[in-house]
Amino acid sequence: AIERTLSIIKPDAVAKNVIGEIVARFEKAGLTVVAAQLRQLSRGEAERFYAVHKERPFFKDLVDFMVSGPVFVQVLEGESAISKNRDLMGATDPKKAAPGTIRADFAESIDANAVHGSDAPETAAVEIAFFFPESNIHSR
Ligand code: CMP
Repeated sequence: AIERTLSIIKPDAVAKNVIGEIVARFEKAGLTVVAAQLRQLSRGEAERFYAVHKERPFFKDLVDFMVSGPVFVQVLEGESAISKNRDLMGATDPKKAAPGTIRADFAESIDANAVHGSDAPETAAVEIAFFFPESNIHSR
């Protein structure tokens, strides 16, 4: 089915100037950027976005990292967009990410891991609504 997923290019990859290289991978895989914004997250926004991880030991480091510089937030649309994006990203820990995946090629560590992608239809809907009103999403 045609799905939408939320993709975040994290501060490490934005700082490396590889937004375009990463977006090109999405487009070459048949995903379409239907909304996008470069923005600096506030601490409160990062804490709310990652609220499911609030009790995890890595939560503070995760929030610190996500506010360390601007992020490039996008809605990607296409056939099986959620799983396709996850395949393109590779494993959360870049040391375990398959060769040729975004995290294998651009990420340094499990914290600075280049990209985030929604993991399921329910979380995709919540994450997309967090950043984009429907009027700012341009399906095509
Ligand atoms: P992301 O997909 O953005 O979701 C939560 C993030 O927490 C994850 O990517 C990692 O960057 C970060 N993180 C740090 N340590 C861990 C861990 N042990 N397990 C999962 N995620 C972690």
